[in-house]
Amino acid sequence: TQNYRITLLPGDGIGPEIMAVAVEVLNAIGPQHDLQFQFEEAPIGGAAIDATGEPLPAATLETCRRSDAVLLAAIGGYKWDNLPRHQRPETGLLALRAGLDLFANLRPATILPQLVDASSLKRDVVEGVDIMVVRELTGGVYFGQPKGIFETETGEKRGVNTMAYTESEIDRIARVAFETARKRQRKLCSVDKANVLDVSQLWRDRVTAIAADYPDVELSHLYVDNAAMQLVRQPKQFDTIVTGNLFGDILSDAAAMLTGSIGMLPSASIGASGPGVYEPVHGSAPDIAGRDLANPLAQVLSAAMMLRYGLNQPEAASKIEKAVLQVLDEGYRTGDIMSEGMTAVGCKAMGGALLKALDRPAE
Ligand code: NAD
Ligand code: IPM
Ligand code: MN
Repeated sequence: TQNYRITLLPGDGIGPEIMAVAVEVLNAIGPQHDLQFQFEEAPIGGAAIDATGEPLPAATLETCRRSDAVLLAAIGGYKWDNLPRHQRPETGLLALRAGLDLFANLRPATILPQLVDASSLKRDVVEGVDIMVVRELTGGVYFGQPKGIFETETGEKRGVNTMAYTESEIDRIARVAFETARKRQRKLCSVDKANVLDVSQLWRDRVTAIAADYPDVELSHLYVDNAAMQLVRQPKQFDTIVTGNLFGDILSDAAAMLTGSIGMLPSASIGASGPGVYEPVHGSAPDIAGRDLANPLAQVLSAAMMLRYGLNQPEAASKIEKAVLQVLDEGYRTGDIMSEGMTAVGCKAMGGALLKALDRPAE
């Protein structure tokens, strides 16, 4: 039996609801593959602020460091939106990513045939889309110094953030992206704003330099405004995309909508070594929290990514992914992916359907 220590960070809003489903799924898959999961739950985000006054208590970070992998749901909510920056839930999430040095965020946007009609785009535009967004996660404008709200000489306030990347920060994410593209269709598109931003010029120069080590991967460059447009115009032109922290945040939400709902999109946040954090792309969805309306599939697929990338258990990961396809084939739909003729279910019932599918896989 393989034993794994998994830190669970349910967080806020729909977080605990979707986490409960993912844990049930892991508990069901464990015995089938001779895996044993030792779960330890820790507070983060608003829940941690309420309990300890801090969005990322030191004990939570320590628990994460000691584990084999971290499964995170989502943080944030109206209640904490007006706290000073250092006390906000989002700051806790950023501190977790920085604390574990998780510089690479893999965000796959794969259109499942069952959900083509749930997309807001036309069938022939989205059918067959399979994109991997490689987002830099611990640098760029999210972390650059100086930052803050300062007073000018005339006494007016001035808000400042700094978009900065060092060569080594660009090189390491570029290498992850080229390696990722190599395992896919060998096409990498780097997205920047080199026509205006110096930080982007350096980004483009370094990505181009690193490309010399990957002659088998076809590299292209797009400006981020054009990339946003191309993503909705003709998403099938993309295979792997690599971009900075902020551009990656925005483009991955856009890519999410190709798939029908952001409630379907998992991600993996990984570093050079140590445990990774596996988290849905979506947030805490406070507008639907506590009402059993959330789609748990992004969370469940994040658990599958944890098995594949973090624990090197690809068979167990595939089994979870197959169960997700099976419940969709069977017609189960949460509200965000509902379409005509399907069976509307809540978060819990979707979890129940998954457990049944794992128990009795389709032929
Ligand atoms: P959001 O992703 O939480 O929600 C956007 C919309 O998508 C909402 O209408 C929501 O109901 C819907 N949605 C999201 N996940 C869903 C799911 N699983 N099933 C069904 N519908 C779903 O983004 P937001 O509203 O801009 O942000 C809400 C809070 O979440 C904010 O505090 C924000 O900072 C935080 N946030 C956290 C993370 C994270 O923890 N990684 C990511 C994004 C936003
Ligand atoms: C995400 C979120 C976070 C980000 C926020 C909540 C800090 O939007 O994971 O995509 O911007 O990275
Ligand atoms: Mn985001």
